[in-house]
Amino acid sequence: MSFDPVATLDMSTPEAKRASYALLLAQVRAVLEGERDWLANLAQFAALVFNAVPELNWAGFYIARGEELVLGPFQGKIACVRIPFSRGVCGACARTRQVQRVEDVEAFPGHIACDSASRSELVLPVLVDGALRAVFDLDSPSLARFGTIDAAGFEAAVAALVDATDWPRA
Ligand code: SME
Repeated sequence: MSFDPVATLDMSTPEAKRASYALLLAQVRAVLEGERDWLANLAQFAALVFNAVPELNWAGFYIARGEELVLGPFQGKIACVRIPFSRGVCGACARTRQVQRVEDVEAFPGHIACDSASRSELVLPVLVDGALRAVFDLDSPSLARFGTIDAAGFEAAVAALVDATDWPRA
């Protein structure tokens, strides 16, 4: 299918953010409609988010493989390929299965700096039938880029991705 995302989403006020994340959710559903392949859908999701959401310098997936995360579909600069669950913000997300919202990456012990431009980070678990399949990592060059509205917005977007996708057997 062809799909033209709207111009960069407006995140200038809390109200604009809420409306923008509702639009992003609709875009995720529209872009993934008719395709359930996990690799294609993760790639499209990363591209949609990176192009539609302002103030990001990286958006993508690390896939859970045993006790390690391995780089998956992403947009942005080349990144670290393997991250043990014991390391970094992504590892903390994989370990705890909780959203990690880091307002200042320099204050996060063990943060892995793939791109020195990154100042804040949001990492969400991708859980399918109770199993951790991946994490979705967002980096921003702005301090405290991700607030609670952003975390909730991306949680809903990731849930729509999970609903729209068939995964290979773990
Ligand atoms: N900063 C992450 C590593 C992944 S990159 O940012 C793409 C972390 O500390 O886990």
